Amino acid sequence: MLDVKLFQMENFLSQPYEDTLVPLLKSAHDRLQDGSGVGGDFTGWVHLPRDYDKAEFARIKAAAARIQGNSQALVVIGIGGSYLGARGVIDCLCSPNYNLKKKKTPNVYFMGNGLSADAMQEVLDLLEGVDFSVNVISKSGTTTEPAVAFRFFRAELEKRYGKAGAKERIYATTDKARGALKSLATAEGWETFVVPDDVGGRYSVLTAVGLLPIAVAGVDIDALMGGAAEMMDRCADTASFDCPAWRYAAVRYELYRAGRPIEILACFDPAFRFMLEWWKQLYGESEGKDGKGLFPASVEFTADLHSMGQYIQDGCRNMFETVVRLGASGHQLYVPRDETDGDGLNFLAGESMDFIRDRAMEGTLLAHTEGGVPNVIVEAGGKTARDLGQLIYFFEYACGLSGYLLEVNPFDQPGVEAYKKNMFALLGKPGYEDRKAELEAKLNR
Ligand code: PA5
Repeated sequence: MLDVKLFQMENFLSQPYEDTLVPLLKSAHDRLQDGSGVGGDFTGWVHLPRDYDKAEFARIKAAAARIQGNSQALVVIGIGGSYLGARGVIDCLCSPNYNLKKKKTPNVYFMGNGLSADAMQEVLDLLEGVDFSVNVISKSGTTTEPAVAFRFFRAELEKRYGKAGAKERIYATTDKARGALKSLATAEGWETFVVPDDVGGRYSVLTAVGLLPIAVAGVDIDALMGGAAEMMDRCADTASFDCPAWRYAAVRYELYRAGRPIEILACFDPAFRFMLEWWKQLYGESEGKDGKGLFPASVEFTADLHSMGQYIQDGCRNMFETVVRLGASGHQLYVPRDETDGDGLNFLAGESMDFIRDRAMEGTLLAHTEGGVPNVIVEAGGKTARDLGQLIYFFEYACGLSGYLLEVNPFDQPGVEAYKKNMFALLGKPGYEDRKAELEAKLNR
């Protein structure tokens, strides 16, 4: 079962800090549970792991089986919350090299998360001679990056399979009633899945947004939801510091108030890289507003010990680390003995890679703490779908608590609009003419 441990925190925070936070956390907890806080219309994710649309869940599994049967590849088109969760789970549970592996399930390509022509052309080239389907995901149905990408992949499907054939290969995940994508899907007769009204993008990985691509990759989505439901029960029933989400939310809030505005999430497993990206979006968009919020950064150890390690050990003391430990690896590999011992490594002969990794973990923990960087440890049960379901819900719940501790709305993202307005104006979108002239002048054009 997931747990949160604090390492020598008494050296960094005056104790006991928890007592004063109990009323604040209890209030945040109550507001999450009954949706009465700011942004409460977007707390559908709180009860989602048990209270979800079972008929749609069955349709997701059926669609995944159909895609597995008729496609060698699935192109998943989406950005931000309509992208990172699925990518994080697939990378973590199926490997970052998933597409390179021999397997019975389709390759999964993530598109529409940027505006690179080269990235788009590369995937179009990789799809030559490959039967594929498309899952286009956009809650608003109007986001530029996925909309542009979808034009290309829809055109490719229609060229290859005809309009009727393409219709059988397009799956749209969007709002139940509104938006350009919903209107298009209805007009064209594509199968649709719903992003619930009360679940925002970055909290949507356990809806069809994440579940369809994750199921296509062969992950057990019942186990994923089951793990999330276990953590949901734990968070709902344990309104105290016995709840790991309370411990995590409290310590990061206190560290922030004690002059540490940067949180680095670290993991010693390269497969966790996109879960780190998912976490950064979750916390960055939820907390970073009104001039407040921890800046979420991430590192992948041990690789980044040879790059960012210097700064963490020795640079500006304005950060703390949260280390996710995923437990034993799926494979046990032992260092071979070498008779000549030319590299002097025989002192490790017979030791497992996990043994060496765990000593690196301990050595890093001690070094960074001694270097003045507080460490929080999130012990995940392991690296199964159930464990990841627990971890996802844990981070989401702690994020909701954290937002309310900071007195911000953890469920909106007004800051994301600024670049969009400028981009639309510069692209000449109708309605933005005045702004275009103003921006062109600023760019000296
Ligand atoms: O968390 C969020 O709400 C955002 O990151 C969105 O997921 C992202 O902007 C994509 O939006 P949409 O799904 O409407 O295309």
